[in-house]
Amino acid sequence: MKLSFILLVLAATSIVVVQGSKFWDDFYVNFGDCNVQYPGYDTGSTIALGLDNTTGSGFQSKYPYLYGNLSMKLKLVGGDSAGTVTSYYMASERTQFPKWCELDFEFLGNASGEPYILQTNVFSEGVGNREQRIYLWFDPTADYHEYGILWNQDLILFLVDSRVIRVFHNAADLGIPYLDYQPMYIYSSIWNGESWATCGGGVKTDWSLQPFLASYTNFNVWNACEMRDYTVSSSHACYQKLYSSSYGQAPNLALTQSQIDDLRWIKYNYVIYDYCTDLKRFNWTAPPECARNWP
Ligand SMILES: *[C@@H]1O[C@H](CO)[C@@H](O)[C@H](O)[C@H]1NC(C)=O
Ligand SMILES: *[C@@H]1O[C@H](CO)[C@@H](O)[C@H](O)[C@H]1NC(C)=O
Ligand SMILES: *[C@@H]1O[C@H](CO)[C@@H](O)[C@H](O)[C@H]1NC(C)=O
Ligand SMILES: *[C@@H]1O[C@H](CO)[C@@H](O)[C@H](O)[C@H]1NC(C)=O
Repeated sequence: MKLSFILLVLAATSIVVVQGSKFWDDFYVNFGDCNVQYPGYDTGSTIALGLDNTTGSGFQSKYPYLYGNLSMKLKLVGGDSAGTVTSYYMASERTQFPKWCELDFEFLGNASGEPYILQTNVFSEGVGNREQRIYLWFDPTADYHEYGILWNQDLILFLVDSRVIRVFHNAADLGIPYLDYQPMYIYSSIWNGESWATCGGGVKTDWSLQPFLASYTNFNVWNACEMRDYTVSSSHACYQKLYSSSYGQAPNLALTQSQIDDLRWIKYNYVIYDYCTDLKRFNWTAPPECARNWP
């Protein structure tokens, strides 16, 4: 009890706990500023990223995070969004870590009335090739929905409206490097994926509809450890924050029953592609983490 109190105080003094959910507090536009709209300019509560035939646009967090429970609400491009790709991801800095880590949500647009695809991927130490694709159980363009990542020392959960759609367990014991020492920035962007995104590139973008806009709100990063410098003491502060927080406790290697139920529900109803079953890519042997990740 006393020890955890001391750890908490230590953590609170050496790292910055970010409260609130204003875009300006934690993010900045990193490309395509001319296509960014600020409908919530006064409050910093909402922004829209735009894509036209000259450029997409994007934003990133000011600082990287080492572990956390993060989320954001997105409303995707409506109507005919074929060829557009809206991404929301975390990644470590490639100049600092040539074998970088990355966790991706990528939303592949579609013709009017046709379903978006949500593709997720996990890169550990520069190696990805872990794509999964699902359809969503709602229209992601009609309203805002929450997309989150819970990242602790045992597992990574991909969450949509608080339901687990994917888990990536720590499989260091199976020889798969875990994402456990590289702090990752949060990024989002909209870009032109006309050559591959919709029906494998078969359905092209209708540029007469530009700009294509994806909206963002509720930038929730407070329950994560921001690292302002990459030093031993600030990474220790992040480990201390992790171990004293709810995201460092359960869920751990044992998922809760409702999380297992979520994953089964997704697997049997919404998965349309899973690298774990695409054995021709892997010499007919599923990657070792696969058996562990699906309950
Ligand atoms: C981009 O769109 C603008 C506005 O519709 C148009 O005038 C321009 O020719 C387009 N450029 C290209 C390269 O297609
Ligand atoms: C677009 O709609 C078609 C037809 O329903 C579907 O096959 C495809 O998976 C959908 N999504 C994308 C991104 O192509
Ligand atoms: C993580 O955040 C979500 C909201 O996005 C919340 O429902 C959940 O309880 C949080 N989990 C932990 C362990 O803090
Ligand atoms: C694929 O499997 C075959 C037969 O076991 C083996 O000879 C070959 O080296 C493997 N290739 C790779 C890239 O692992």
